[in-house]
Amino acid sequence: MDSMTFVLFGATGDLAKRKIYPALFNLYLNQKLPKSFSVIGVGREQLSDVELRSRVTDSLYTFSRHLINDKSKKEEFIKKFQYCQLDVTNTEGYKKLLEHVQQNEKDHNIAENRMFYLSVAPEFFEVIALNIKKSGLGSTDGWKRLIIEKPFGHDLKSAQELNEKLSKSFEEEEIYRIDHYLGKPMVQNLEALTFANPVLQSLWNNRFIANVQITASEIVGVEERAGYYDKAGAIRDMVQNHMLQLVMMTSMHLPKQISESGIRNEKRKVMKSLRTLNRDTVGVHVVRGQYGPGEINEKFVPSYREEPGVEASSQTDTFIAARLWIDNSFWDGVPFYIRTGKRMMEKETKIVIEFKNPLKDSYTSEMEKVKPNLLTININPNEGVSLQLNSKNPTNGEMEPIKVDFAASKQDVPEAYELLLFDALYGDSTFFAHWDEVELSWRWVEPILEAFKENRVPLHSYSAGSMGPDAAHQLLEEDGFKWW
Ligand code: BG6
Repeated sequence: MDSMTFVLFGATGDLAKRKIYPALFNLYLNQKLPKSFSVIGVGREQLSDVELRSRVTDSLYTFSRHLINDKSKKEEFIKKFQYCQLDVTNTEGYKKLLEHVQQNEKDHNIAENRMFYLSVAPEFFEVIALNIKKSGLGSTDGWKRLIIEKPFGHDLKSAQELNEKLSKSFEEEEIYRIDHYLGKPMVQNLEALTFANPVLQSLWNNRFIANVQITASEIVGVEERAGYYDKAGAIRDMVQNHMLQLVMMTSMHLPKQISESGIRNEKRKVMKSLRTLNRDTVGVHVVRGQYGPGEINEKFVPSYREEPGVEASSQTDTFIAARLWIDNSFWDGVPFYIRTGKRMMEKETKIVIEFKNPLKDSYTSEMEKVKPNLLTININPNEGVSLQLNSKNPTNGEMEPIKVDFAASKQDVPEAYELLLFDALYGDSTFFAHWDEVELSWRWVEPILEAFKENRVPLHSYSAGSMGPDAAHQLLEEDGFKWW
């Protein structure tokens, strides 16, 4: 891989500490970083290189997947870090950053390949991207790339405005929009699962599939993020990005040639076929909820409205369930159900494919115990795949469901950020959100936002520790299904 400089804006922030430093370190240990590279941490605080390195060390001890058995490796790694203090709104300061980067490139014989990672609040995306261009940081002999994280806007309009501004400094191919769900190993595996298994590939359509269910439930509540979350709600925080990406990844049909553009094209097709809701139909297909008080793991937790920083009359959704229709020849008539929420019974992200059972009506009474075939893709916290079949128990001759299971060993599974950073460093944007996907997702979500704002959809309360409001169960019952 080419030598490069990794310029990290927000070097003293939480994401850097929890995710970015450990991911870089694990890539380093696995020899997946270039021989020659530097990390220039940028932040507002006054820090020395030594102080930054000590913070990086702390983060590795706390969050790294691989244990630090070999201290010399860790020492080698942290020597790659330098710090540059900068107020990101001050255009003048970027000159100093440019000099710093250039001097370092010269000293360490690093080519002018620059990765800019904006691990900062979204209101700074624009000003940083602009100053990268203005200062000359973005004029390189090699490549330049920009990594940003959601939120990409607050609605369709603000997302479009943001994109327009970013595109003044970076080309679309240079922008890597992280959706960390696309970095989860089992999400990346979806493509292989269908591509490498003709059995699944041939079943992946409305002839054989009855419905698809995508769940991302969380135990945590709003935590210390009320300032952001109370304006976003689950619809913006999880549905517009992660959940719709999971819908695209599950339902897309593999292109003849598996390539970045081929996959993007297929994902775009899915979003274009997603049936649009209008304000009046939102309430028929979308359930919104907010957690009340309850008990989780034998511990009492307060309601959302009692959380610090949340208004006592907040109407923000902490739970969404929805029925989606993909109007194309593969999925015509197959409902896709999604649900996500905070303060639910368990932390679980999974995709369940329920297969049709055309023979059901001809079964004798003994066969009534037959359960549907289910393919479950477990994404988080455990990675694995399981297939539910029906079989007679050899000891008592009773028909019962059995599971054919695969579960990955936890320690060997790379973190999402590791996979994503690796891809970005190699210039592979397959598992990043393309602007078209972001824009089409906002378009789909827009009528839901409007309907919520106009109070056209009831806000159901659900007990913390439950699996969401009853209405979310009724949504499937109406179609003769239930959540698995
Ligand atoms: C983030 C959301 O994008 O995803 C959080 O902002 C949420 O609210 C998190 O908790 C869930 O991610 P994961 O990987 O724990 O499922």
